[in-house]
Amino acid sequence: MKPTPMMAQYLAMKEEHQDSILFFRLGDFYEMFYDDAVTAARELEITLTRRDKKNPIPMCGVPHHSARGYIERLIEKGYKVAVCEQMENPKEVKGMVRREVVQIITPGTVMDTSLDEGSHNYLMAVSLAEHFNIAYCDVSTGELKVTLCDEETFFNELAAVKPSEIITAEPFNHALTAKIKAVTTVLSVHDQLSTDLPEQAGQLEATLQPAVHLLFDYVTMTQKRNLAHIEPAVYYHAVDYMRLDLYAKRNLELTESIRLKTRKGTLLSIFNETKTPMGHRLLKEWIERPLINQAQIEERLQHVKTFNDRFIERDELRTALNEVYDIERLVGRISFGNVNAKDLVQLKYSLEQLPVINQLLSKLSINPIPDDQLPEIVTLLDGLNDDAPQSIKEGNIFKSGFNDELDTFRSASKDGKLWLNELQQQERERTGIRSLKVAYNKVFGYYIEISKANLHQFDADAFGYTRKQTLSNAERFITESLKEKEALILGAEEKAINLEYDLFVTLRETLKSFLTILQAAAKRIAVLDVLQNFSQVAQRNDYVQPEFSADRLLNLSDARHPVVEQVMSREDYVPNDCELYDDAFIYLITGPNMSGKSTYMRQVALISIMAQMGSFVPCSRAELPIFDQIFTRIGAADDLVSGQSTFMVEMLEAKNALNNATKDSLIIFDEIGRGTSTYDGLSLAQAMIEYVHNHIQAKTLFSTHYHELVQLDQTLNGLTNIHVAAKEYNGELIFLHKVMPGAVENSYGIHVAQLAALPETVITRARDILQIFEQAGNHDIMPEKKHEHIYEQTSFNLFSSTVEEEIKGLDIARMTPIEALIKLQELQDHIK
Ligand SMILES: Nc1ncnc2c1ncn2[C@@H]1O[C@H](COP(=O)(O)OP(=O)(O)O)[C@@H](O)[C@H]1O
Ligand SMILES: [Mg+2]
Repeated sequence: MKPTPMMAQYLAMKEEHQDSILFFRLGDFYEMFYDDAVTAARELEITLTRRDKKNPIPMCGVPHHSARGYIERLIEKGYKVAVCEQMENPKEVKGMVRREVVQIITPGTVMDTSLDEGSHNYLMAVSLAEHFNIAYCDVSTGELKVTLCDEETFFNELAAVKPSEIITAEPFNHALTAKIKAVTTVLSVHDQLSTDLPEQAGQLEATLQPAVHLLFDYVTMTQKRNLAHIEPAVYYHAVDYMRLDLYAKRNLELTESIRLKTRKGTLLSIFNETKTPMGHRLLKEWIERPLINQAQIEERLQHVKTFNDRFIERDELRTALNEVYDIERLVGRISFGNVNAKDLVQLKYSLEQLPVINQLLSKLSINPIPDDQLPEIVTLLDGLNDDAPQSIKEGNIFKSGFNDELDTFRSASKDGKLWLNELQQQERERTGIRSLKVAYNKVFGYYIEISKANLHQFDADAFGYTRKQTLSNAERFITESLKEKEALILGAEEKAINLEYDLFVTLRETLKSFLTILQAAAKRIAVLDVLQNFSQVAQRNDYVQPEFSADRLLNLSDARHPVVEQVMSREDYVPNDCELYDDAFIYLITGPNMSGKSTYMRQVALISIMAQMGSFVPCSRAELPIFDQIFTRIGAADDLVSGQSTFMVEMLEAKNALNNATKDSLIIFDEIGRGTSTYDGLSLAQAMIEYVHNHIQAKTLFSTHYHELVQLDQTLNGLTNIHVAAKEYNGELIFLHKVMPGAVENSYGIHVAQLAALPETVITRARDILQIFEQAGNHDIMPEKKHEHIYEQTSFNLFSSTVEEEIKGLDIARMTPIEALIKLQELQDHIK
């Protein structure tokens, strides 16, 4: 069956956009057909209908004026939408209207106001040759970065950048695709089309160009418009930053909490004093990418210190920043051509703050933001009405006095309106009808209205009125002179609106020559914003400036967990020290459940990250090495997404650490080996500590519930036992949260169970059993010499050792044969 000409046009277009949902413009609607219709109807909860009764085609549609919301919803769900418009006016052509896809909207290329202003929206291109060549771009702000790395770093980058879409020229192999999909959902294959290298890639080395090229081709293909605001690609080296793998980022809850995936409870959440969207986005980037270059870190810290010392200026800066809008994204929209007058008013307000900011900076001896071209830009924007509307097709964009011609049109329409007022007065007198009024509606234009009550004595012809419309309670008329004036008024209004539109487009075009300077200003503002935020937060929470040690010393006094101390009150939080050296670099941490082991270890990691971000830290004094990487194995959150078991995740995290850590790294192993049987777990834990000790020598915090391990300090010189203290008082357990030297002597597991209000019978029975175990003594699994300490609770090998002990203790000489038999039976029962 042959499709209709229109369906043929549709099918041809769909052929070229197979991986997008095609929004096909038909009059006032965008229609979708076939599978697109089925998908869209399901995702958007709109009605699925059929076209063509005989040969039904699934179809659904959305009105063109509300299409934007629908498109946003599809993009959020990871679809791409190709928007096809009618390129001709159907009234003016015979036959088929020409149609074209004018834009493909994809998760990585949306430019809408719907974007979360606190986050970047990145599109990443990956080109695979000998290495991973990756380029990523925030199309809404113009930021473009490029690097070359190995597979492992690629995945770390993926975790840091979190692109909402990835493009490649050729499909990745199956394994790689699966791994990528675990991080990001939208993966597009884009066969390179053009041969021209974009200007933005010009200065790059050849090995870095393919990804940038691919990215540009894709953006150009989908957006079909000017991309002048995209900045020249900036090369960065992934190892210029502290390396944090996927696990560390997640476990330490830097910008997203593990369980709820929200900002609450994260490190990001405590730095809540940025004032601008640009600052907030940059802050997130700084948290995800702590520095490793001491000079760069010190530069940030120095600024924070300045802001701390000069808090009056800092507060003035904060006030100025309050008035600064999202310049980066506004600039992106200027270049993109979808900026409106309201946006430009925001830009104007923002730029008006620059002189104020620069004056403050000069007081603080900080380099000013370059502003030579600023007066020019502000003058350009000055003509805009402060309350300009969203739409640029309704006039009221410019102030009077901005353009003479515009003023003439406006006064013509204004004079006309005055004339109408006078007319109303005049006609009231002439007809003697006091309720007569002159009014306007869109269908009939201007008219004279007379209420029903006055009509019976009214002779329309006598007054030269022509009847136009009859309502239930009134009659509407027109007169010749009214219609003449109407033409004048409406003509002037229309001319004014058209002129304003043209003036606006010109203004928008003119502004394009200032993109670079505006972007540079936005960048500086973002940096200042993050730094003043660091200062504000540091002062509010009593942070100190960290110092960096050259000889790998980690010495924190009165360290606190930056997030936990906020959740509970500051006074309740127990600060702790941490002191690790080049030759004493492992802490083996014991202590009852709930005593604060995990919190302690995380706080050391978070403080290190904060310091390397350039922030002050929650300590009374802090001296740290600069860590190249941090590895973590924390908690027992099952990785449900990738279907890996807890234990497998645990081992993968451990592997990452053991393979990659160096002497300059920090390793946090929280109760490793928990996910498997006791023997396995204990053996693995011990082997790992020995490996770290003998081969890596990274700073390591290792908490464990295997008390057997505390004897390792006898054989491993670099290992120190510490414990988090708890105290028994009147049969109850009191957590002191205080870190003390040496190993813990009691694990208090039963006390914690009691705290959790387990049935009393269970608690009592557990105490009895524990007593038996304790009397039975302990069998060390360590081959090394015995330690004087007796570590009480052991959780394995106990039944056999009880029996063994009992046999040893029997006085056979004094037993009757029957007694011996009974005893034997008892022991056998025990073992069974
Ligand atoms: N230094 C501290 N001061 C006050 N409360 C703390 C401290 N450290 C931990 N806590 C509290 O104890 C709880 C348990 O801590 P956690 O580190 O999970 O213990 P563990 O890992 O030893 O089981 C935390 O949720 C926190 O409320
Ligand atoms: Mg814990």
